[in-house]
Amino acid sequence: MNTASDLCFPADFIWGAATASYQIEGAAYEDGRGESIWDRFCRTPGKVRSGDTGDIACDHYHRYMEDVALMRRLGMRGYRFSIAWPRILPNGRGPVNPKGLDFYDALVDALLESDIQPCATLYHWDLPQTLEDAGGWPNRDTVDAFVEYTEAVVRRLGDRVPYWITHNEPWVASWMGYGLGIHAPGRMDEGAAMAAAHHMLVSHGRAVEVIRRDGSGAQAGITLNLAPVHPASHSAEDRAAAAMADARGNRWFLDPVFRGEYPSEVLQAFAPHLPPIVGDDMRVIASPIDFLGVNYYNRHVVRANPETGRPVHVRPDSNSFTDMDWEVYPDALRELLLRLYREYRPAQMFVTENGAAYNDVRIHDGSIRDPERVSYLEQHLQACSRAIQEGAPLAGYFLWSLLDNFEWHDGYQKRFGLVYVDYPTLERIPKSSFDWYRSFIRRQVATVAA
Ligand code: FCB
Repeated sequence: MNTASDLCFPADFIWGAATASYQIEGAAYEDGRGESIWDRFCRTPGKVRSGDTGDIACDHYHRYMEDVALMRRLGMRGYRFSIAWPRILPNGRGPVNPKGLDFYDALVDALLESDIQPCATLYHWDLPQTLEDAGGWPNRDTVDAFVEYTEAVVRRLGDRVPYWITHNEPWVASWMGYGLGIHAPGRMDEGAAMAAAHHMLVSHGRAVEVIRRDGSGAQAGITLNLAPVHPASHSAEDRAAAAMADARGNRWFLDPVFRGEYPSEVLQAFAPHLPPIVGDDMRVIASPIDFLGVNYYNRHVVRANPETGRPVHVRPDSNSFTDMDWEVYPDALRELLLRLYREYRPAQMFVTENGAAYNDVRIHDGSIRDPERVSYLEQHLQACSRAIQEGAPLAGYFLWSLLDNFEWHDGYQKRFGLVYVDYPTLERIPKSSFDWYRSFIRRQVATVAA
C-alpha cells in the first residue's frame, strides 16, 4: 500500500460512507409512513431472496443515534443517506406527514453536531405505491409529484443540507424496475422503462431548479451508475458492441444531463420506444448541476451478438470477483473519472458509491476480519488519487456502505458494510475494514494538515 503521503487528496476532500432509506431504516409501518413499491415487491412471492423485506432492516429509524456515533468514531466528514418519499408524503402527493420530516430533521442535526456534512438523496428507489398504482414513473404526472415532494423536503431541510442528489442510478431504477422486472415495481416493458427514464431525468432537472431556489446555497447533482465498457476482443464487431453498450448504459444519462440530447444510436436502437419528449424537456434535463455523483463497482466486458444486434455481457477472464460475482478492476475507476472530466467537464465529482460484498463471518472471538474488502478499498482509493493527479475534480468519496443492509432482490445475504449487522439482535459490530478506513482517513487528514 502506498503511504498516506503518496496519495493525493485535497485538504477539504469529503471522506464519507453511503446508505439508502429502504435498505437500512426499517420501521416500515411507523409514524405514518405510506407503502412503497419495495414493500409491495418484497411481498410478491419469488421476487426477493428468502422472502426478505425491509420491514426491520437495520432498524436505523430507531437506532440512528448509535449509527451517527459509529460515523463519528470512523472520522467521517460526510454521510450520504436517502429520504423515504412515503414517509414525507404517504400517498405520494397531498398532505405532508410532519413525523416523517421530523426524523430526517433530527438526523441532520445529529450529523451537524458531529461535524459530518449531510448529503441527501431524494430518490433511492422507494416510490410511494399509490403513485405506482397511478402509472408510476412511466406516467408523466409523477414528475410533478416529485417536484412537490422535493419542495416539501427542501423547505424543511434546505437550510442545513449542503449537498442534494436528485436521483440515484436512474438507469437501474428504470431498467431493473420497469424493463427487466428484477427490481420494484417488477414490470417488464421496454417502452415503460424508456418513459420512466425520461421522466426521472425531467424530474431531476426540475428538482435542481427547486434546490437552487429554496436551498440556501446548497449544491445539487445526480448520481449515475457508470462503468467503462471494454470489448471482449479486438474485433471490429466487439468494439462496436462495446461502444453501443457504453451509449446505452453511460451516455444515455450523461449526454442529456450535460449536453441536453440523447445519444442518436440509442434513439435508433430503441425505436419504436422513443422517450416521450415534450416542450423544453431537454433544456430542463440539462439544468446546470454543481456535481456529478459516480457510483462505480466494476467495468463491463461485452461482445457482439450478430443475431440480436445487442451487446452481450461476458464474464471477464479474471480471478478476482466479489460475492456479487462482480470483477475487481480498480483501474477502470481511474479511467472513468478521467473520461468524465475530459468529455463532460463536470464542475466537481463525488464517488457516491464504491465498495464490495464479501461473505463475512464472525469468528470465535466475535470479530469479523475482511482483508479482501480492505484490499478492494485500498486499490480503488489509489485509483481515485491517480485520477485526481491527472486532473479529475474529485471532491469526495462515499463508501458503500456504512452498514450491512438489505441488498434489494438479494435480501440480506450480501454484506457490503464496514459494520457487520447481526440481524437477529441488530447488534452492530465494526469489521476490520472499519478500523482500516478509520486509520486511512486519519492519516489523510494528518498528511494534508502537516
Ligand atoms: C447500487 C445501489 C445501492 C447498493 C449497491 C450495491 O446499485 O445504488 O443501493 O445496492 O448498488
